[in-house]
Amino acid sequence: MDQYAVVGNPISHSKSPLIHARFAKQCNQNLAYSALEAPLDGFPEFVKGFFSDDSCKESHQGAGKGLNVTVPFKEQAWALCEHLSEGAKLAGAVNTLYLNEHKQICGENTDGIGLVKDLKRNGVVFEGKKILIIGAGGAVRGVLQPILNESPQKLVLTNRTLSKADSLVAIFSGLGAISSAGFAELKESFDIVINGTSASLGGELPAISKAIFASSTVVYDMMYAKELTVFNAWAKQQGVDTVIDGLGMLVEQAAEAFYIWRGVRPKTDEVIQLLREA
Ligand code: ATR
Repeated sequence: MDQYAVVGNPISHSKSPLIHARFAKQCNQNLAYSALEAPLDGFPEFVKGFFSDDSCKESHQGAGKGLNVTVPFKEQAWALCEHLSEGAKLAGAVNTLYLNEHKQICGENTDGIGLVKDLKRNGVVFEGKKILIIGAGGAVRGVLQPILNESPQKLVLTNRTLSKADSLVAIFSGLGAISSAGFAELKESFDIVINGTSASLGGELPAISKAIFASSTVVYDMMYAKELTVFNAWAKQQGVDTVIDGLGMLVEQAAEAFYIWRGVRPKTDEVIQLLREA
């Protein structure tokens, strides 16, 4: 049976095995998908082992066909790829690995397309819109190209450490109307505000003026939680009607990976619903 897995450290919390099992059932695909922990100091060896024929013989399993990569290995995965898509090159990180016909390790980043698809699924249009993205870490870098491809009127990148936002603007400025601004400079409202910081993890809010919100602003937190995330709760308190968390993005990025591997596109709605209820 074709073997797939998500690799991270830690990994026990991952929802990817559940998501891919549902996709496989829905699309009648015969595959196994597990969650594997790689040692922090041995990621490249882990990946080579997973895709090698020897490891399959030793484990009496089928060939390793595809890996999803999560924290903290996405940048290392990017560095070890023998072939990267144009989008993945710019993203500086990959979350999806597979072998091509020459047995080279290929990398894709499906996070950004996952974010765009989830917002579209929620009826959001990017074209001509004013978008603010907060954060300038690896998670944000991975989503910039797919968002710029949607032709927003302008995309403003803001970050606690402004120099990191400036660096990303320099990398992506050829793709569209992207600029940077410090937290204190933000005094106007945006059509779409995306929180790509890890502040929510610690229950913190970025020190930004509530002026970024109008009631019609669509607010998207790339994190997700059982309750409203801290950021989305704050946006609601400021009168924002539509707040969305990153659970849909998780499922949409998985669907893109599944499509790359299997050539079939699973339906995401029912899986998102299932995870919400779980
Ligand atoms: P990830 O891979 O999740 O993007 P990262 O590369 O460590 O992780 O980036 C974390 C992002 O969250 C950064 O933009 C960080 O801001 P700095 O570059 O100034 O460190 C941002 N962040 C984390 N905690 C924050 C907080 N309390 N307030 C504002 N921004 C925060």
